[in-house]
Amino acid sequence: MMSTTAMMDELTRRLEAWTALDRVADPLAAAVKKAVRPRAVRNVLSGTVIGHPLHPLLTDVPIGAWSMAALLDLVGGRGAAPAADLLVATGLAAAVPTAAAGLNDWSDTWGEDRRVGLVHAAANSTALVLYAASLAARAGGRRGAGRALGLAGFGAVMGGGYLGGHLVFVRGVKVNRTAWREGPAEWTDVLAEAELADGGHRMVQAGAVTVLLVRQGRRVHALDSVCNHMGGPLEQGTIENGCVVCPLHGSTFRLADGAVVRGPATSPQPGYETRVQDGRIQVRART
Ligand code: FES
Repeated sequence: MMSTTAMMDELTRRLEAWTALDRVADPLAAAVKKAVRPRAVRNVLSGTVIGHPLHPLLTDVPIGAWSMAALLDLVGGRGAAPAADLLVATGLAAAVPTAAAGLNDWSDTWGEDRRVGLVHAAANSTALVLYAASLAARAGGRRGAGRALGLAGFGAVMGGGYLGGHLVFVRGVKVNRTAWREGPAEWTDVLAEAELADGGHRMVQAGAVTVLLVRQGRRVHALDSVCNHMGGPLEQGTIENGCVVCPLHGSTFRLADGAVVRGPATSPQPGYETRVQDGRIQVRART
């Protein structure tokens, strides 16, 4: 007999491989991408403005509210009914911005991640509908039905949460791709100065990491070449207005210090100090 772990592994593996989902997922992701294109919308929904992904932070509110509502419904007795109703309503209100931030993040995924993300969103949407029906039943005095619908919603939100956790902790969606990349602490020779023309850029190896060098006049900027959002190759990006734009989802990092000018990235791109010694460009990690 299969263990629970093996069953869940098998379930997620099947979802990842279920290509029929692409028929819904791909056009929906394209529509979401279009909706979040304005920089202000992108920066808010991604969490760029707070320097942290927004969606996982917001999920705490509906999950927390609905968990406590389930507890009160199960063991709180008649006196806890108003508090349970308030928690159901709070979860519903918080679920709307949470879903918007999640859709924004999901639109940047593809393939297996996009399929699992679609089912994650479907489970949470089902929870939303069940909780809305639960609130309506509670308001109409049908407390038994309201409790039953709430508990069904709680089951759906737990299923959605499992898949959300799978996306982040197993698939690595939205995990900072530069978290374990460490450049050289000592000055390291990477390129002849003559090989980097003014306005030009090159990717070079510096110790264990690859670095994007960009020359602007007398200054040479150096950023990690792997976009921290989801690993895009910055050496294939475009250089404009003192920034590099990632070719995958358009995250825009200031060359001088790696600051995020436009999301979906939420963390600054790691940068390096540079100097020219005897006609050679050298880099080292910022101290
Ligand atoms: S990988 Fe997503 S913006 Fe760079």
